[in-house]
Amino acid sequence: MRILAIETSCDETAAAVVEDGRKLLSSAVASQVDLHAQYGGVFPEMASRQHVLAVYPIVQQALKEAHLSLDELDAVAVTRGPGLPGSLVVGVNAAKGLALGSGLPLVGVNHLEGHIYAAWLYRQEPPPEEPRFPILALIVSGGHTELVLIREHLRYERLGGTLDDAAGEAFDKAARMMGLPYPGGPAIQRAGAEGDPRAFAFPRAWLGDSWNFSFSGLKTAVLRQVQSLKAQRETLPVPDLAASFEAAVVEVLVVKTLRAAERFGAASVLVAGGVSANRRPRQEISLRSPLPVHIPPLEFCTDNAAMIAAAGSRRFAAGQRDALGMDVLPSWPLSEMAFAPM
Ligand code: KG4
Ligand code: ZN
Repeated sequence: MRILAIETSCDETAAAVVEDGRKLLSSAVASQVDLHAQYGGVFPEMASRQHVLAVYPIVQQALKEAHLSLDELDAVAVTRGPGLPGSLVVGVNAAKGLALGSGLPLVGVNHLEGHIYAAWLYRQEPPPEEPRFPILALIVSGGHTELVLIREHLRYERLGGTLDDAAGEAFDKAARMMGLPYPGGPAIQRAGAEGDPRAFAFPRAWLGDSWNFSFSGLKTAVLRQVQSLKAQRETLPVPDLAASFEAAVVEVLVVKTLRAAERFGAASVLVAGGVSANRRPRQEISLRSPLPVHIPPLEFCTDNAAMIAAAGSRRFAAGQRDALGMDVLPSWPLSEMAFAPM
């Protein structure tokens, strides 16, 4: 089974081909990051326009790298949501056009489910071991921070999530306060590599027994610290600020995820989404977890279409076929995914 997938939910235009839900045949990503960096964040209208220009060349590139033509595929999968409405529309329309022209079935995929299934992808034989159910999954991206219990394929129980900023969003905003460029996550990681994570005691929001997260207090603390340092006319100790911020975010994420894994009797832990590209949570969770930890390879942590193909393959195999009238779902939650097998 070979699935072509398209991803345009935010600021990467991506296409990929995956075989049997796991084996990567090709993955092409055109990032718009340089375009948006000058605005300090994603400029939605520009993102849509850029997707229009890039989507078909990226699909061509993915097919070419996989040495396949459309008639050798089984379905076209596409990110239906959540994401920027105008950006999602471009990908969904491109997928509809390909499905209509080729007669291939269309499969709409939830972007967060894509982040989860990135953990099943591999490039080279032998395939890595699959995460064992029940899985405790932490999804940490620019738009989401979700703690999810997965007892079986394609079924999600949401335990909690952020009450304010997503983890990636907190990285992006803190980076801006420190004068670092967009996207903030990689910039903070680079700057913080030389810094002392104990230099500033930034707050950790534990929120009692709940499985929720909050990063707004931390964000305010960073802002106050930066303002007070600037008032004293000191040059900002950016490496220390970055390392201390990173440590505060990561400690809460790691501790709560492992606590939930224990509480719900998980057999494995999965971390996915853009922030899981960060070295600190990758190391800390693997070090502290008594359970096997699955984190996708770096290239599949940030947005890509291979993960959409992986999730789309599972849904296609389970019988999902979407109508050509399928609409985008910009706020589609993971745990309320409407899916009626045919
Ligand atoms: O999953 P993703 O590519 O897009 C969304 O679905 O949102 O995540 C993007 C987010 C951005 O906020 C970015 O700053 C963050 O992931 N990110 C990182 C790192 N690389 C990307 N955060 C921390 N450390 C990183 N190395
Ligand atoms: Zn994402």
